[in-house]
Amino acid sequence: MNILLLGNGGRESAIAWKLSQSAKCDRLFIAPGNAGTASIGTNLPVGVSDFEGIKRAVIENDVKMVVVGPEVPLVGGVVDFLASDKELRDVMLVGPTKQGAMLEGSKEFSKRFMLRHHIPTAAYIGVQKVNIEQGKDFLRQHAAPYVLKADGLAAGKGVLIDNDLETAEAHLDEMLSGKFGDASSTVVIEEFLSGIECSVFVVTDGDHYKILPVAKDYKRIGEHDTGLNTGGMGSVSPVSFADKEFMHKVEIQIIRPTIDGLKEDDINYKGFIFFGLINVKGNPYVIEYNCRMGDPETEVVMPRIESDLVDLLEGVAQGDLDRRELKIDPRYAVAVMLVSGGYPEEYVKGYEITGLDKVNAETLAFHAGTKQKDGKVVTDGGRVIALTSYGATKDEALQKSMKAAETVMFTDKYFRHDIGGDLK
Ligand code: AMP
Ligand code: GLY
Repeated sequence: MNILLLGNGGRESAIAWKLSQSAKCDRLFIAPGNAGTASIGTNLPVGVSDFEGIKRAVIENDVKMVVVGPEVPLVGGVVDFLASDKELRDVMLVGPTKQGAMLEGSKEFSKRFMLRHHIPTAAYIGVQKVNIEQGKDFLRQHAAPYVLKADGLAAGKGVLIDNDLETAEAHLDEMLSGKFGDASSTVVIEEFLSGIECSVFVVTDGDHYKILPVAKDYKRIGEHDTGLNTGGMGSVSPVSFADKEFMHKVEIQIIRPTIDGLKEDDINYKGFIFFGLINVKGNPYVIEYNCRMGDPETEVVMPRIESDLVDLLEGVAQGDLDRRELKIDPRYAVAVMLVSGGYPEEYVKGYEITGLDKVNAETLAFHAGTKQKDGKVVTDGGRVIALTSYGATKDEALQKSMKAAETVMFTDKYFRHDIGGDLK
């Protein structure tokens, strides 16, 4: 079948790489894609929120499966749009409906969902201008640090963690006055949880689910998790503390109640669920849900899936996921992200990238912010390329990725050397 993948980041490069290996994949289209996906399939100049354009691309290219990478079109209802079109009746869709995507699209919705279905998460209060005093009372009743979250999508920037009460109260005022636009007209204030985080991914057809490899991402710009937050500087899979016992708790206390809860609430969910979890003294709590795969976690998760991804996603769309196979590669995978100097603040785009052809065959180069210009590959974002390697140990995989990170060149390149260093 012909497949259309929506998105243009490192996540989509990794998904495209995996989809393209399937005997079931005939032609692969990526909209809009990047310089990396152009060598895996065919890029189409259609934006992820151009629903009419996506529909035309599906019809013109005889696409039988659409896989949605990022959250923005999902929260915007791309699946509902395509599903309701009679001309697209036979097209398989991988991604939740708008209502399902609310798990990520509204923090307050997701907190209510967790409360309703007894899923462990931090205590919280939802605050708007009308009950701002209640919000401030909540802050005063809790000890620092204070966690304030914009309710809506804020491109990963909507969470503020403050160490003193005055700053938190001031931030609450600012957020409710539009610091993150509409996204912060409601603010979720949460109890602070202390522990180590990991990312658990499942695919679900709404009834059945399969647990994909567990990963951990590294968000801070500096070595040893210091400095500003970024979209992600690297990732590792598997995660040592996410052992059998921990994952059993995750499955019983979090995954099953989530799948059952969606069904109970009559929410049609076919796609990926990303559980952002924190391990508090051996017990898992949900920090956040996302309605898509993580980036850069996908760059280590996809390489560890041995089975046919198209077959799995067919199961997702057709409701027989239980009859599909998921086999996981036991090796470690470590991804090191090359970023533009200055990121996550100001940086320059358009530098030529060289050395990609010299990267060891054992390392996968997943393009994130790249594009083709005058026959060259140039930088086109803060996060530029994720370099993923396998290893019998975490360290072996990291060493290979770092070697590749030295080999790929562009002006003001930066990367972290300690990905996975905090884990056993
Ligand atoms: P989120 O966008 O909800 O994932 O939040 C961004 C980051 O803030 C998370 O990855 C955590 O590191 C941190 N965080 C969010 N909520 C909490 C919480 N309740 N307690 C401690 N840290 C949190
Ligand atoms: N790596 C975290 C995210 O994709 O949201």
